[in-house]
Amino acid sequence: MMPRILVLGSLNLDLVLHVPRMPVEGETLPSTASATLCGGKGANQAVACARMGAAVSMIGRVGDDPAGLMLRTALAEESIELAGVLATPNTASGVAVIFLTPDGQNRIVLVPGANAALSPGDVAAHDAAFADCALLLCQLEAPLETVAAAIERAHAVGKPVLLNPAPARALPSELLARTDYLIPNESEATLLTGIAVTDAASAAEAALKLRGQGAGHVIVTLGAGGILIADRDGCRHMPALPARVVDTTAAGDSFIGGFAAGLVEGLSVDDAARLGLAAARVCISRLGAQAALPYRAELSGLTEMIG
Ligand code: RIB
Repeated sequence: MMPRILVLGSLNLDLVLHVPRMPVEGETLPSTASATLCGGKGANQAVACARMGAAVSMIGRVGDDPAGLMLRTALAEESIELAGVLATPNTASGVAVIFLTPDGQNRIVLVPGANAALSPGDVAAHDAAFADCALLLCQLEAPLETVAAAIERAHAVGKPVLLNPAPARALPSELLARTDYLIPNESEATLLTGIAVTDAASAAEAALKLRGQGAGHVIVTLGAGGILIADRDGCRHMPALPARVVDTTAAGDSFIGGFAAGLVEGLSVDDAARLGLAAARVCISRLGAQAALPYRAELSGLTEMIG
């Protein structure tokens, strides 16, 4: 049986607005196109893992609105186990407004909605899911106390934890110390360490500081600059594959999906990271978050191209 990944996190309806450039203060800017798509870092990472071939369960909250139904349906279509994704009465689903420029870069404004109602009680109510999983995967679009409760529960039953500290916020040291795999991007690593992360050298410095605070393996994602891995085997840099950039939304989510699925399959950290980089390369060449996440078969030949 395929080992199961348990994802605790957010589900958002993404309102994507294509803009010729980012608006400036006080400006009204017409959008050239728009789309309403399924997103949320939690749901994106759940789908990313499932498309890499992993069995996936999710714990999260949607609203009791049409968006909630759309978000749950999208996960069900990927055969993700949804008993832990609850509809919250009289509450709207989370929404992300995403400004997307022609160079594929984005700025995101988040309305948490039902994600804010995900509670430590929801973690306790799905206790069995922790015993059943091979890895817990969390981000920070759910309340921090709920993420902390999930990490504590996974630790209590001896399951490894992968934390993507996004969006960036300061974290208690106990939580970092319980994190087996920590995957921040440049700005998140900067916020967590106070070290300005701009390249592989500064990423290594930040990653070592985070390891010093108790994180097991630290992987800093550097966009087009690839990734920096730091663990007990030392620090190493892996380049990103050259790509045609259409939309960078969910690039980190696709990397994490490939990495997490590779890990539970039994790949080494470096080979799991290669799978993540290959997935991210395909993701950024397409529009949308979940819509852009690749299936495993699309990556054939790509992982071998990564040094
Ligand atoms: O990581 C991309 C995601 O961030 C988007 O899908 C959006 O919902 C925000 O949560």
